Amino acid sequence: MRLQTFAVRLFLCFIGTSGSRFQVSGSSSQTRFIQTNKDLQLTVTEGVQLGEGATFYWKFKNINIVRLITDIFIYNSYKGRVEFFPQNLSLTLQNVQLSDSGIYMAVVSGEQDVTHATYTVRVEAPVSPVLLSVDSVFNSPESCNFTVSCTTELSPSISRSFTCDRHTCEEAHPPTPGPAPSDLTSFVLTSSLQLSLTNERITCNHSNQVSWTQDTKNWREICPISGKEGKVEPFLLLLLDSSCKK
Ligand SMILES: *[C@@H]1O[C@H](CO)[C@@H](O)[C@H](O)[C@H]1NC(C)=O
Ligand SMILES: *[C@@H]1O[C@H](CO)[C@@H](O)[C@H](O)[C@H]1NC(C)=O
Ligand SMILES: *[C@@H]1O[C@H](CO)[C@@H](O)[C@H](O)[C@H]1NC(C)=O
Repeated sequence: MRLQTFAVRLFLCFIGTSGSRFQVSGSSSQTRFIQTNKDLQLTVTEGVQLGEGATFYWKFKNINIVRLITDIFIYNSYKGRVEFFPQNLSLTLQNVQLSDSGIYMAVVSGEQDVTHATYTVRVEAPVSPVLLSVDSVFNSPESCNFTVSCTTELSPSISRSFTCDRHTCEEAHPPTPGPAPSDLTSFVLTSSLQLSLTNERITCNHSNQVSWTQDTKNWREICPISGKEGKVEPFLLLLLDSSCKK
């Protein structure tokens, strides 16, 4: 027992030291997704000492944004767009645009350069609205089959077929083939389009990392009860329903 505890302790100590060593060398790296026109906040979570002859920088790719020695200097292309807080070294970049996507680094430049934070930032525009439309309906008193499509401004539309009895619906199998994956690749990277059936609703969801839009329809709107059945008195309908469940 004692030996085991000892071994565990040793192991923990090892993790402890190697962990802190990683932090000092500044390997903390994060990916951030942000919507256009929002403010991006970047922080340095580890303690930073600005020794003699050292300068702190926030950089975007190889462009300097702000420099701190004893005073603060904001470089020309970022004047009026950033706020920098020397007490905690955090940076706020206002009103981000697609071109602000890329790698941001907090660097202390002294005898050597040491990176204290790295952020991979991807700015995305909100996704465009989506439209769920009904392509075809085959309706009979016993069953209803229909095909719907999801359409957006830019990406290729997708469509699915469903087959329903009077109570439930399910996706027809095999699903109708969508556009070939190669056609989709350029869009998959930025946004995705999904058509799903949950409970009674058919939902089209257009989403990316920062936003989503949707359009939805109840399948009973697409498959109205046809013929005489639609005009049945509520009381009779109840009877019909309970006899069906047996
Ligand atoms: C840094 O300091 C500023 C000013 O005190 C504060 O508004 C901001 O929230 C701080 N940032 C972090 C990440 O603590
Ligand atoms: C719907 O599809 C099912 C299965 O293919 C078929 O049996 C049924 O007759 C179809 N109904 C209509 C109204 O087309
Ligand atoms: C749409 O998809 C996104 C990403 O998968 C998800 O976060 C969001 O909740 C979905 N919206 C609905 C209404 O299902």
